[in-house]
Amino acid sequence: MTGIDELLHIATDIASEAALLIRERRRVGVDVAASKSSAEDIVTLADRESERLIRDRIAALRPNDGFLGEETGADRGTSGLTWVVDPIDGTVNYLYDFPAYAVSIGVVDGEPDPATWTALAAAVVNPVLDETYNAARGMGAHLNGRLLSVNRDVQPQLALLGTGFSYSASRRVGQAAVLGGLLGTFRDVRRAGSAALDLCNVASGRLDAYFESGLHPWDQAAGALIAAEAGAKVGGRGGGPATQDLVIAADESLYDVLEGMLAGL
Ligand code: IPD
Repeated sequence: MTGIDELLHIATDIASEAALLIRERRRVGVDVAASKSSAEDIVTLADRESERLIRDRIAALRPNDGFLGEETGADRGTSGLTWVVDPIDGTVNYLYDFPAYAVSIGVVDGEPDPATWTALAAAVVNPVLDETYNAARGMGAHLNGRLLSVNRDVQPQLALLGTGFSYSASRRVGQAAVLGGLLGTFRDVRRAGSAALDLCNVASGRLDAYFESGLHPWDQAAGALIAAEAGAKVGGRGGGPATQDLVIAADESLYDVLEGMLAGL
């Protein structure tokens, strides 16, 4: 096993191991370790333990690769590849035992910046539902081994839209105003609380489209590849790539509608 296959297996195995760890820690009870950008933006002991496990496993198997993790930051490697890790995406859900959280691991070629990297392989594991999403570039996306495909040619008024909000209260108010402008056009909206799972939900057809502004690289690295490999168009503002500023994912026809409606932001 070489190349992209190997990266896919490593991402999937390590995400699965970390997912079991966070499920076990959640069973015992969750401690908030600290607040980050705001009081709402928290890190739990399980986030830290999960990232430590993932970092150690990757370092042992791929010592020349770089690493970018939500909780421990960046280490440059020498191979040109970087592992981009969210040890628990959906941390607030995790705190409340709301069953939409996941371990997210992506491996990218290039700088750990969604605007410029090429994602190679990805795994997102939701330990509550026992669901493993994974994808490798050019090899499709899978949920528990089943090939995924996005919903095609859905009219906006019949389309279920996912989105998310910032941890910054003032930014949330602006995001709500944007959403207000979309609600009259789409069937309904879900805010499930995990960007990684939102992107996987586009891949599996549980959502027709998703957009969010202000995501960090680790929130989107794995999910964006999984959505793209399931046939979604994934991009950002003005026909450009997905960035931290804006991520849109949907089948092309719906993508174009959503991109047009978000153009004036
Ligand atoms: C958050 C989740 C949430 C999204 C936020 C992210 P975290 O990540 O993905 O759905 O709306 O923008 O920061 O903090 O749970 O890892």
